[in-house]
Amino acid sequence: MLILAIESSCDETATAIVENGRKILTSVVASQIDIHKQYGGVVPEIASRQHCENILPVVMEAMQGYSFDDIDAVAVTYAPGLIGALLVGVSFAKGFAKAIEKPLIPVNHMQGHVASLYLHESDSLSTHEKDLAPPYLALIISGGHTHIAEILDYTNFNIIGRTRDDAAGECFDKSARALGFPYPGGVHIDKAANEYSDLLRTTLDTTETLYMHTDATCCYHLPKPKVEGSEFDFSFSGLKTAVLNTIHNAEQRGETIDKNKMAYSLQKTISEILVEKTLKAADKYGYKTIALAGGVAANSGIRSAFTSACEGKYQLFLPEKKYCGDNAAMIASQAYYNFEAGIIADAYLNAYASVPF
Ligand code: KG4
Ligand code: ZN
Repeated sequence: MLILAIESSCDETATAIVENGRKILTSVVASQIDIHKQYGGVVPEIASRQHCENILPVVMEAMQGYSFDDIDAVAVTYAPGLIGALLVGVSFAKGFAKAIEKPLIPVNHMQGHVASLYLHESDSLSTHEKDLAPPYLALIISGGHTHIAEILDYTNFNIIGRTRDDAAGECFDKSARALGFPYPGGVHIDKAANEYSDLLRTTLDTTETLYMHTDATCCYHLPKPKVEGSEFDFSFSGLKTAVLNTIHNAEQRGETIDKNKMAYSLQKTISEILVEKTLKAADKYGYKTIALAGGVAANSGIRSAFTSACEGKYQLFLPEKKYCGDNAAMIASQAYYNFEAGIIADAYLNAYASVPF
């Protein structure tokens, strides 16, 4: 079954064609980062207008080599995200599905991120894709969400922890902005943190895992906020404020912040918070398989922190870095499972900025 999917929930206009939920035949992503960069973040109205301009060329590009008859269904992200941006994709997909007389499949963006774990590009499945199937525990970390979810089956997710305020990605991006890195800052924090850990590695002359290193002089002290209520909920706004305060206090004292050291400290603190809660949730709910998904799952520090923490105890699945960020292949993958479960939209499909999941 070939599904053509459309994703426009934030600042990427994307289309992909995926076979049977797993094999990517084509994937096109038009990023708007260069436009939003000059404003230091995504400007929703500009994002919507860009989606309007990009959507047809992106779909045409993805359709190269395919005819409308080859497509068995059209899928679209309908929630959560920027409402104006989502509406462009939903409206286009409705018209497109009607025009080619194929079913329309609605996809939740966060479920789509999880489906990025199933994607592959060649006929031969790696051990990775063969092995991952529900049930398992997922940590979904993006620019707007931080969820620990039980993936009970392909379409049935149970959230057991979520952020009370900022998402991990937002904490990365706002801290990066305060350090003078361009939008989106997460990837720049990652790079700067690596430069600092390379430096630490040479000065410490040690091969032990740096993320477990506890020498306070190596890091800026950043708090790990306690969250009242659900033991699996997150809070990242206090951590973000601590980064901003450390920078401002240093400026007032006429000192300069070591950007790489701050990036390393932030990445280490976020990694530790995520690892601690996820593994605790895995133990409490009885999961031996853990998977990461979402844009922040591309972070090398988080990936290595989970890899060392899970070694010998849990089976860990990480999506390919290039499918961590927003793309339409993951939406097509999730759509396949939605279709199998009978989740099909009609012409009244609407977009929603937020949904319970
Ligand atoms: O999933 P995503 O592409 O979009 C949303 O659905 O929000 O996630 C975007 C987030 C941004 O906050 C971005 O800075 C972050 O993912 N991100 C990273 C890295 N690559 C992307 N954060 C930390 N390290 C990275 N390497
Ligand atoms: Zn996303």
